[in-house]
Amino acid sequence: MKAVRFYGPGKPLIIEEVPKPAPGPGEVLVRVNAAGVCHTDLHFIDGVLNLGVAPITLGHEIAGTIEEVGPGVTEVKVGDRVIVYYYVGCGRCRFCLRGEENLCENPKAEYGFITDGGYAQYVKVPARNAVKLPDNITFEQAAPIGCSVTTAIHATRRAMPNVGDYVVVYGVGAVGFALIQYNKLIGAEVIAVGRTDSKLRLARELGADYVINARVEDAVKRVKEITNGKGADVVYELVGSRETMNNSVRMLARRGRLVFIGYGFDKLEVNPLDLVVKEATITASVGNTLEELIEAVKLVSEGKIKVIVDRVSSLGKINEELDRLRRGEALGRIVIDPWA
Ligand SMILES: NC(=O)c1ccc[n+]([C@@H]2O[C@H](COP(=O)([O-])OP(=O)(O)OC[C@H]3O[C@@H](n4cnc5c(N)ncnc54)[C@H](OP(=O)(O)O)[C@@H]3O)[C@@H](O)[C@H]2O)c1
Ligand SMILES: [Zn+2]
Ligand SMILES: [Zn+2]
Repeated sequence: MKAVRFYGPGKPLIIEEVPKPAPGPGEVLVRVNAAGVCHTDLHFIDGVLNLGVAPITLGHEIAGTIEEVGPGVTEVKVGDRVIVYYYVGCGRCRFCLRGEENLCENPKAEYGFITDGGYAQYVKVPARNAVKLPDNITFEQAAPIGCSVTTAIHATRRAMPNVGDYVVVYGVGAVGFALIQYNKLIGAEVIAVGRTDSKLRLARELGADYVINARVEDAVKRVKEITNGKGADVVYELVGSRETMNNSVRMLARRGRLVFIGYGFDKLEVNPLDLVVKEATITASVGNTLEELIEAVKLVSEGKIKVIVDRVSSLGKINEELDRLRRGEALGRIVIDPWA
């Protein structure tokens, strides 16, 4: 089968022929129909995120069809349309025991991170990780649910905004679009901060109450104005640059929560006093639980969250598409069809 392989930081991804995996007991073989291109893949290539596993097939937003089932599989059958939950926890650590496989201390697999993922024609996963898709969600809409929509749900649960709280979505991209919609659903006042007008227009269409173009406006000043001087109760940080981290801390309200989702090479520098006087919290969000994936699929199926797909492309164009994402040219997720 065809797969796109990562050979380590600084190297372009390479399309190769690799053996088609065979499902063992309890496993299924998924024919990948769509795989979303997450910004995290750029962090692998840049070496910001180095998990030390190479070569490996990247791609952690995976939707497809069950092609084969291994012995003992009863949950799904050949032909079922599914989305993949990308973590396989150990099942025994304190986090797995609470269903928090995203924090597993000894993960068995993590597709597209430490285990071969979705930039391939097939992927093999435990049957439990193949979540059935309703018929009203296409594969290209489904794939980005796997990380972008689920991350939005998980990060929001980490921040716990109240109805009417001001939340800032700092970095309007694929995860940002989902965060805007989910935070509107739970009754927050949403302020989207970005640098590109087309993305900010879409942010508004998706429900953002206020948008700020940080290229032309002072984001901290605008957030203070919008919130009558109070500041943001929650800031979701999706960029992680020196400038955005600084601004995020400065725009927090008393008891405000800054939730890191994005990151890069830059370091956060903060004087504790800036947090102390506000009793502010800096926290973070990683991945999602299986339950959050199931919730995300339901919300998309009910039309409560729209998945924004920039375009569908092919495995052969992966490096080009990653470059477009890096330049900020994608409006929503780029999705790869490994059979195109
Ligand atoms: N923690 C987790 O579980 C998790 C899960 C998924 C993704 N992530 C991370 O979260 C981040 C966002 O992911 P994504 O897939 O949504 O990326 P994305 O689609 O590339 O969106 C990020 C957006 O941030 C905007 N941006 C960049 N620099 C900015 C700045 N200085 N000020 C304001 N906006 C700026 C860009 O739009 P403009 O055109 O406006 O610049 C871009 O569209 C990445 O770092 C990714 O690795 C983390
Ligand atoms: Zn991701
Ligand atoms: Zn575990």
